[in-house]
Amino acid sequence: MANKEKITRHSPLVRLIHWSVVFSTFTLILSGMFQLPLAKRYFIDQIPGLTWSSNYRVTVMLHYIAALVLLSAVSFHVVYHLIRKEFNLLPRKGDLRESYLIIKSMFGFGEEPKSDKYLAEQRLAYVYMAFSFFLIIVTGIIKIIKNLPSVTLSDGFLDWTTNIHNLATFMIIFGIIAHLGAFVIKANWPLLPSMFTGKVDLEYVKHRHSKWYEKLQK
Ligand code: HEM
Ligand code: HEM
Repeated sequence: MANKEKITRHSPLVRLIHWSVVFSTFTLILSGMFQLPLAKRYFIDQIPGLTWSSNYRVTVMLHYIAALVLLSAVSFHVVYHLIRKEFNLLPRKGDLRESYLIIKSMFGFGEEPKSDKYLAEQRLAYVYMAFSFFLIIVTGIIKIIKNLPSVTLSDGFLDWTTNIHNLATFMIIFGIIAHLGAFVIKANWPLLPSMFTGKVDLEYVKHRHSKWYEKLQK
């Protein structure tokens, strides 16, 4: 716990990992799309300062560097929380029903159930994101192996790899839209500062994350 009014929710390290994932993911989405090759087709490479966007050597290099940042951040995230035994974001029994109750209460029907550190719908969104990132990373690594001069993989296998890589791209874009969409809803505004300053209001935690608050007091 921090001072009287605020409670620490995310450490600087956790925030650094979150923003590394954000920065690398946006770079991967852009450089991946440019490779498709959307930059030439839609004249993005005509925009001053963006002439490189249709240069395959540049976009593929950007994609590799961002992939390295993403892989480092994701590996760190997994090992860090395993060692610290922090499993707050993993789904629990009854999360589907609880999410329904939370959404219903946002429209003024019924009481919102007491939440732990994260809401049930955040835990469900997390597995969705984790699964999408898992797909994109595994297929991305296969694509890197394919690019090695000494390796030849069958066309059918590579087709599947590319299709899953592209499907996961859309799954991630959809996930990001939903993640940002959640912060449009007023009830979730108090969570916003947590990924910037690391802190949230004590009063908010007391009434919405009361299960978490009880644990913090112990
Ligand atoms: C959010 C993350 C990512 C997004 C949105 C993304 C998106 C894309 C897109 C749209 C393409 C072009 C279409 C294609 O050739 O399949 C592509 C290609 C590729 N991606 Fe990703 N990707 C991501 C992460 C990764 C990661 C983590 C790796 C490596 C571990 C990776 C490795 C590759 C490789 C090697 C290619 C093909 C380059 C080539 O040989 O032309 N990607 N990616
Ligand atoms: C690639 C894009 C992004 C990914 C993959 C991502 C992923 C995540 C994940 C997994 C969490 C933890 C649980 C959750 O709240 O769902 C989280 C939390 C958070 N993210 Fe993001 N995020 C992205 C972009 C952003 C952006 C652009 C913002 C800025 C508005 C943002 C703000 C937050 C905040 C405020 C939290 C904390 C919520 C809480 O404490 O409960 N995220 N993000």
